[in-house]
Amino acid sequence: MRIVLGVGGGIAAYKVASLLRLFTEAGHNVTVIPTEASTRFVGTATWEALSGNPVSNSVFDGVHQVNHVRLGHEADLIVVAPATADLLAKAAAGQAGDLLTNTLLMASGPVLYAPAMHTEMWQHAATQANVATLRSRGVTVLDPAVGRLTGADSGPGRLPEPDAIFAAALALLQPTDLPQPIEPPQPTDLPLAGRTVTISAGGTREPLDPVRFLGNRSSGKQGVALAIAAKEAGATVRLLAAHMDVPPPAGVEVVPVETALELRAAALAAAADSGVIIMAAAVADFRPAEVSGTKIKKRDDTADPTISLVRNPDILQELVQLRDASPEGSARHDQLIVGFAAETGDGQGDILAYAEAKLRRKGCDLLVLNQVGTDKVFGQETNAVVILARDGSEPQETAGTKKDVAAALISRIGCELTNEAPRR
Ligand code: C5P
Repeated sequence: MRIVLGVGGGIAAYKVASLLRLFTEAGHNVTVIPTEASTRFVGTATWEALSGNPVSNSVFDGVHQVNHVRLGHEADLIVVAPATADLLAKAAAGQAGDLLTNTLLMASGPVLYAPAMHTEMWQHAATQANVATLRSRGVTVLDPAVGRLTGADSGPGRLPEPDAIFAAALALLQPTDLPQPIEPPQPTDLPLAGRTVTISAGGTREPLDPVRFLGNRSSGKQGVALAIAAKEAGATVRLLAAHMDVPPPAGVEVVPVETALELRAAALAAAADSGVIIMAAAVADFRPAEVSGTKIKKRDDTADPTISLVRNPDILQELVQLRDASPEGSARHDQLIVGFAAETGDGQGDILAYAEAKLRRKGCDLLVLNQVGTDKVFGQETNAVVILARDGSEPQETAGTKKDVAAALISRIGCELTNEAPRR
């Protein structure tokens, strides 16, 4: 497919290089049109090298090809990221002062804006009116992500993660003018039909300063495999996506998160209507006590910095407590909660015993234990787990690809949900 990628003048322009890679690796032909201002953040040479296509932001380049008309007309999809307040205003007003805004006026296919700006600019009545105007014209404007912004401030205004923009773009690329295959009726006898399953995946990143973070090796592969398996089992799936090396699957709701605190907020909100919650994400147990608003400098005249950490809330435990406190008869009372335990073992106790203690401490219904080491589990295609149950039933061992492990866990969850015997 032919995609035009418009790049607005914001610091988040650098993240769009990853988005461009996702498009090209999926086989799309991408023409990048940066605004003049954006080239102060990322130069045209970067876009040319990554896209393999010539890059210009002038209506006077390639005049013989009538670029200002052709590019928008031929594009199967136009994605604008970061969509600045200025670009949204120009697009809403129909201005055509440069190649990108000309192209947007000539668009004959879907258009997707991924905004990024400071919270005050996003929440300003002018920006909100422009977004409403664009949406009323059938254009997709994503909500910005919530989290750390360029300076010391945080709130709604972060560019959604490239994976999330990519997933939204793919959804718009579904050919609608081709004869659609007739949807087979959704079988209601699938094990998770009618259930909403929330799955957290990937690893959280805890910022130290605007450029550094504490993270972990989680790739998100197991969580994504679970999302696919749950969808195939008939569930409505919501993926709380921390940092992942793989794109989220199509057909699931993706909620991008960065930090443990953001994941907590997303999980508590999602829990309200979820029949099943699977906490597969690797959540940082600690975060830096202080986040510097500016890059921490290496200086010869002061001592090297030390990092103090504070404990993050245990989201899994909190979800279980909220579930257990919900009144009998409420939808949430019967929620099935699944945790993961990545253990390395330290020679002092067997990891199964650690995991059993963790299951009791956290109070979840199932705990999926995997043994981790530098060459095991994280980022790999395979996994070997033991599923422990709160009801004390025999531990269930499963090994194979992450897809196999996901299928086994989803099937086990299906059995737990239909089991006549009370789970607790
Ligand atoms: O205590 P531990 O980190 O080993 O527990 C792992 C399980 O708890 C995983 O399911 C993980 O998603 C969840 N967790 C959490 N909140 C934390 C730490 C872990 O929900 N702060």
